[in-house]
Amino acid sequence: MMIRDATEHDIDGIIAIDHIAATEETRRQHIREWVRRGCAIIALIDDRVVGYAVLEYTFFSCGFISMLIVQEAYRRKGIATALVKRLEKICNTVKLFTSTNESNAPMQAFMASMSYEPSGVVHNLDDGDPELFYFKRLKE
Ligand SMILES: CC(C)(COP(=O)(O)OP(=O)(O)OC[C@H]1O[C@@H](n2cnc3c(N)ncnc32)[C@H](O)[C@@H]1OP(=O)(O)O)[C@@H](O)C(=O)NCCC(=O)NCCS
Repeated sequence: MMIRDATEHDIDGIIAIDHIAATEETRRQHIREWVRRGCAIIALIDDRVVGYAVLEYTFFSCGFISMLIVQEAYRRKGIATALVKRLEKICNTVKLFTSTNESNAPMQAFMASMSYEPSGVVHNLDDGDPELFYFKRLKE
């Protein structure tokens, strides 16, 4: 597996593994924008995109993982772990946050496996499915 920054040439590959991008133009626009701004990294196996992650600094000026997706057939093989470890390495703030829906048990288990601590709940984003925030203090 290889992890590297995403480039314009990877956009179709990213869209292909993001089930929301398959139906929502807004997500496709976000993906193009993240890649253009240099915020997206990808995991490749045999030169094909199998996962991607996005790191931004728009959350109270702290690092924030705003997207993390691994293609279904490639889950539980350590790909998200490798992506997040890379983001932790390149993050230029000591505080790194992310969030996920209360209904997303796999992501919560993944956060625990990466030693992220719960950091609060925001209601009323997705109706009836609160957003759980997570935090990790990175080494300076
Ligand atoms: C959450 C997600 C990114 C995890 O990706 P992954 O590549 O499968 O994760 P890893 O293989 O690195 O998992 C590392 C550890 O996290 C935990 N974990 C990950 N997925 C899990 C699951 N479905 N159930 C329980 N524990 C899980 C386990 O402890 C796992 O270690 P193990 O496989 O040795 O038991 C993936 O399930 C995914 O893409 N989900 C859909 C998109 C999404 O919900 N993204 C997050 C919100 S934006």
